[in-house]
This record gives sequence, C-alpha cells and structure tokens, in this order.
Amino acid sequence: QSSVLHKFKGVIFSTMSSEELLNSLDSFEAREDDVFLVSYPKSGTHWIAKVIENIPNARLTLTPPIELGDISKFEELKTYCERRVIPTHLSYSMLPMNIKQKQCKGGNHFCLIVYIVRNPKDIAVSFFHYYRDNPNLPTIETWHEFFELFLKGDVVYGSWFDHVLSWEEHKNAKNILIISYEEMKKDPSKNIKKITTFLGLNVTDSEINQIVWKTSFTEMKNNTAKENCDPNHTICALTSNRNLVFRKGAVGDWINYFTSKQKRVFDELFTEKMKHSELAKHFGD
Ligand code: PPS
Repeated sequence: QSSVLHKFKGVIFSTMSSEELLNSLDSFEAREDDVFLVSYPKSGTHWIAKVIENIPNARLTLTPPIELGDISKFEELKTYCERRVIPTHLSYSMLPMNIKQKQCKGGNHFCLIVYIVRNPKDIAVSFFHYYRDNPNLPTIETWHEFFELFLKGDVVYGSWFDHVLSWEEHKNAKNILIISYEEMKKDPSKNIKKITTFLGLNVTDSEINQIVWKTSFTEMKNNTAKENCDPNHTICALTSNRNLVFRKGAVGDWINYFTSKQKRVFDELFTEKMKHSELAKHFGD
C-alpha cells in the first residue's frame, strides 16, 4: 500500500504531492493580499471555499491547493491576477515561510488565514469514505482498520491532533480566523458574515442569504455535479470524483461508525492531547 504514499518530515503524503514540491515549499512567494484557506482534510474546505467564491464583487479567485502537484505549481500560482484564495491542508509548521512572514496589504499584520476545524470523529468517518473511494490512496477494507490508522496519525497529512495543535498557539493572531464546521451548520449567516468582515468585504443581509442558499449541502452536491471542472486548475482537482467530497454533510455521523470501545479510546486520547486546547471548544462532542 505504501507505493502511493511517501513521507515528508515524518508526515504521510500521497504521490499527488511530489517530493520536490514539498521540499521547495519555502520558495513559494506569498502576495500581500493572499487569503489562505487551511484545514485538516475533511473539515469542510470545499464548503468554505464555495462561500468565499460566492461573495459578490469580491474579485477573489480560488487556486488549486498549494501542496498538490509538482514543482511547476508555484509558477502556475503566479499566473493568477486577482486576489488569490489558496487552499492547503498543511500544518502550521509546514506552511511556507513566506506566508508566515508576508505583511498584509495595509502592513499591520500578516497574510489572511482562515483555519477550519471540525469534530475529529466526524472527520475520521468522512476520511474513511474518502480513502475507500479514492484510487490515489491505499486500499482500506474496514472502518476498524481505518480507525486504527487515524488514531495513530498514519494517514495522509498525519495526525489530526498534531495538525490542530500546530495551529492552536496562533489562534488569536489578528490575521487568523477560526471557522468551525459545526458552528457553520448551526448558524451559516453569522459565520459567513464573520468571513466577509475578516476579508474586509461589505455584503448586505440579502447577499448573505443568497450565499447561504447557494452553499447549502444539497445545492453544492447537485450543482457541483453539473459544473464542468478542470481537474488541473481549480479546487475541482480534489473534486474530480464528486462523491468523494459531497457525501453526507452532517454533524454527528460518527455515531453510526464508532463502537463504544472506539469512542472510549478516542475520547481518552482526545482528553489527554487536547486538555489545553481552546480550538476544541468550537465543536461539540
Ligand atoms: S477535502 O477533500 O479534504 O478537501 O474535503 P473537505 O471539503 O475539507 O470536507 C469534505 C466534507 O465536507 C462536507 N461538505 C459539506 N457539509 C455541509 N455543507 C456543505 N455545503 C458541504 N460541502 C461539503 C462533505 O460532505 C464532507 O463531509 P462528510 O461528512 O463526508 O459528508
């Protein structure tokens, strides 16, 4: 199974992220008006990307993820003229140096980063389906097998705990906005407003309502299937098989997969690792 995977700095990546590209991340040049959309896989990246894409008159363009592809990626990212929204699943420590150092337009803080969090039990279930249906990832036979890998962090992009904890200490930085999947589900208008305010964009209440409607799970699932995605050019690179991304779109589906023993084991690890985490307060149990 390892033939489709490789390790970079101790973290598993699929061969969709070339070793050369990962080794060169620090040569990526951020722009002062870039927006980075950062998440551990299966946290709701496509959803928030679609929200941002639907902000009227925002002049923002979604690019492919920074770490997918080969070394030509950085040249490709230079070709975008409008303000770029760049998705990535990289942890804070792996993020290109230039993103951490680049002063934002206006100069008083760094490039804007939206970091998405989601309940890890739901992430595990979503990731399990993604692994199972994705020919670019190793074959996984059972939920039980995947649960063990997820617990150990032996999955692409590594341990959920390490990822979230790498962002934990930056959560109050002025240039970072934390968005939670569960809070988005509960009150999309309020959270979309948070995003537009953070990006410095004015939107009316009726425009927000439009965005809520266009980015509902059902709308996205139905419409993305109809959209003509260029797999090399947009976030559709991840969406070429739409069933991999738009599965259930629900909070709490983990209950249908975790055995009571798995819940106990996971909760114990969660309590130990996340005891000082404030990010963990953004999602329920
Ligand atoms: S990826 O492949 O890592 O970038 O996946 P990502 O987009 O981060 O996460 C996929 C999960 O998000 C759900 N999703 C949504 N939920 C609610 N509303 C909307 N509009 C929406 N769009 C995507 C998607 O269904 C995946 O979660 P699961 O639990 O598997 O359904």
